[in-house]
Amino acid sequence: MRVLSGIQPSGTLHLGNYFGAMKQHIELQDGHECFYFIANLHSLTTIQDAARLRQFTADVAVEYLTMGLDPSKVTFFRQSDVPEVTELAWVLSTVTGKGLLERAHSFKDKVAKGLAVNMGLFCYPLLMAADILIYRSHLVPVGKDQVQHIEMTQDMAGYFNQTYREVFVRPEPRLNDAPIVPGIDGQKMSKSYGNHIELFGDAKAIKKKIMAIKTDSTPVEDPKNPETCNVFALLKLLAEPAEVQEWDRRYRAAGMGYGEAKKRLAELYEAKFGPKRAIRAQWAARPDDIEDILRAGAKRARAVAQEVMADVYDACGIVVAKS
Ligand code: TYM
Repeated sequence: MRVLSGIQPSGTLHLGNYFGAMKQHIELQDGHECFYFIANLHSLTTIQDAARLRQFTADVAVEYLTMGLDPSKVTFFRQSDVPEVTELAWVLSTVTGKGLLERAHSFKDKVAKGLAVNMGLFCYPLLMAADILIYRSHLVPVGKDQVQHIEMTQDMAGYFNQTYREVFVRPEPRLNDAPIVPGIDGQKMSKSYGNHIELFGDAKAIKKKIMAIKTDSTPVEDPKNPETCNVFALLKLLAEPAEVQEWDRRYRAAGMGYGEAKKRLAELYEAKFGPKRAIRAQWAARPDDIEDILRAGAKRARAVAQEVMADVYDACGIVVAKS
């Protein structure tokens, strides 16, 4: 079973990235063949500043390693180090109807928000499908916002296989129990909405953000609904099950204020991520070692990609010069 996923280097990683995706990536590294990559080509659709893209790319590598990604178990690489994916994205574009891409929620959301959309953003699902299909991936662990892209990938694999021959396997998405992590305003946590809590933020600044999480105005003396509360949703991710149960009980009983739950959330955040700051600093001081890890990963990934691409071109009748 081959597992594959990617994270865009488009800003600092946040709790949504971690609990929606990265946590499952790390859990799956034992017992599966995992390919994880930094989706830097995808980031070009939104980050058009070379220094920032370089920095964010380095940060994603550092933060994956800090959180426990083990390069001896996982093939870890930069998307752009396997240029064959862009070739496959082109081939997929020739068997995919424009209507499929026009139905992509993430593209439609960006249009609705008035963002200037480039062709890269429109074609984003083609490159993502290529990422998945070129490694013949079976399972793609992601947050819920990416599921439609994986369903589109299934469609594209089908279009290609029907047009030519069975080259691609059908990938399946994998969600965990935090498929949509809410941000401090209750919308999906996202860098682009500015409602995120960073994984490695400064303790004081994070506490301030946590204390600002939006709640309803139910007074302390009234019972509250944990199921609709953003603070509770985050508590559930960080506290042990027995403590979650206790908060659930206290929410439903009268006499608990949201401030108390927020303070505990800030403590739990600090207990989990606080000690990682020093580990992050250690990894950040080893750029040459990280470069070696990413190069070794790219070499392994590229070998698979080249083999699949040769199969793709053969199926299509594209003749490649022998070297
Ligand atoms: P990206 O960089 O936006 O997000 C990385 C991962 O984090 C998940 N995620 C969330 N999960 C739950 N709640 C949230 N609030 C939240 N915010 C982000 C995302 O679902 C994702 O799994 N298109 C991808 C990158 C990519 C990719 C791929 C992924 C490129 N090629 C191939 C899988 C397979 C993206 O933009 O993720």
